[in-house]
Amino acid sequence: MAEKSRIGVTGLAVMGANLARNIASRGVPVAVHNRTYAKTEQFMADYGAEGDFTASESVKDFVDSLETPRKIIVMVKAGKPVDGVIEELTPLLDEGDIIIDAGNSHFPDTVRRTAECEANGLRFMGVGVSGGEEGALLGPSIMPGGDPAAYEEVREIFESIAAVVDGTPCVTHVGPGGAGHYVKMVHNGIEYADIQLIAEAYDLLTNVVGLDAPAVGKIFEEWNTGDLDSFLIEITGKVLAKTDARTGRPLVDVIVDQAGQKGTGTWTAIDALQLGIPLTGITEAVFARGLSALRSERKAAAGVLAGPTPSKEVDESLVEDIRLALYASKVVAYAQGFAQMRAASVENGWDLKLGEMATIWRGGCIIRARFLNRIREAYDEHPDLDNLLMVPYFTEAVANAQDAWRRVIVKATEQGVPIPAFSSSLSYYDGYRRERGPANLIQGLRDFFGAHTYKRIDAEGSFHTRWAQDGTEVEA
Ligand code: 6PG
Repeated sequence: MAEKSRIGVTGLAVMGANLARNIASRGVPVAVHNRTYAKTEQFMADYGAEGDFTASESVKDFVDSLETPRKIIVMVKAGKPVDGVIEELTPLLDEGDIIIDAGNSHFPDTVRRTAECEANGLRFMGVGVSGGEEGALLGPSIMPGGDPAAYEEVREIFESIAAVVDGTPCVTHVGPGGAGHYVKMVHNGIEYADIQLIAEAYDLLTNVVGLDAPAVGKIFEEWNTGDLDSFLIEITGKVLAKTDARTGRPLVDVIVDQAGQKGTGTWTAIDALQLGIPLTGITEAVFARGLSALRSERKAAAGVLAGPTPSKEVDESLVEDIRLALYASKVVAYAQGFAQMRAASVENGWDLKLGEMATIWRGGCIIRARFLNRIREAYDEHPDLDNLLMVPYFTEAVANAQDAWRRVIVKATEQGVPIPAFSSSLSYYDGYRRERGPANLIQGLRDFFGAHTYKRIDAEGSFHTRWAQDGTEVEA
């Protein structure tokens, strides 16, 4: 009988196929399976010679080809397909076998599936995997959640396939239950904010400063050598430099300005609203994609709604201001995302180590960036940090950027260029650094119309003013 495989992958679309190839490339025998057998056959024809693969047509043969306790990576579309695979696998598995959902599942589904699998004697892991197709093949960032003992069973394999930064693999056990998929969700939310901020900087550089796409590409290339050094800034330079073969124009100039989305940014924003955590950068990024999608409405409005007359003056001094504004807004987006993870950790009892999250995001994933080292250091020093902005490195970075940040926002507003992520990040910053805001009036109004009570600055307890409708106080 053929030797059993150490791990299985079901779902051989590009992410699953590349993960299977990555694992096999480390000398690990891998069982492969796909709902449509033709895809498995294609996989074997294309990559079968790369490693020790065992391909099966039926789920039963696939399960039988695995050593026990079985470890099965499910890499199918998030949602119902994951439940379908679990349902099919469950009767064929033995107690203690491990089902690993490595797709972009919504974390409440992971919590539910964990309980359902446990009820059937199985172990379930919800694992965030980031890095796109290439990351899956060459080294992703991996965010495993679930039973720590189950993680131990796959740790060696995960550590061997993950990206490595300064000798440290970009994988760690994130926490129990839905913690892994939660952290991946916030990763994607930050990815949305990062991308939106880049798009706003590009908009300003083209429509306010007056540069063309290749020139803006060169600026991003240069920015990538400093504090902004990151995968997304790097690929922005490349995308802007690309010429469209069909027209000879910059490729970005022929791409329709409507952003797609698969939902993870929306989940992050909804979760922040439920937790009561201000998550302005990510949420504005989701809204901006929504506005971009209203293309025909925008086209109609463009000829109707008035805006300022754009100035013809090209102001190259704004380039450095835009860089600083981008950096400061990015710091805010990360501060908000990390504050959200902290709140979720407390809410769910996950005990997330935020410094470790920054560590495993330094390589492999879409938001990999030099400044994650600084975030890691911040949480290593202060594990219970309320807000990243309070760490001297970030306090100073934003203080140094703030004048430029404000200038950019004024200029963009004067010129009618929308910068929702830049400006909402600055508003958050200004709100966060304010000892006394205007919520006193909100409380006064709530008390007026609904007797919702208020607290006083000079006495303990709850107070209510017996308002007469003319604003006077009703005598006792
Ligand atoms: C990753 C990416 C990946 C995917 C996003 C895209 O970490 O590898 O985040 O998960 O590219 O989900 O999301 P949208 O299609 O919603 O932009």
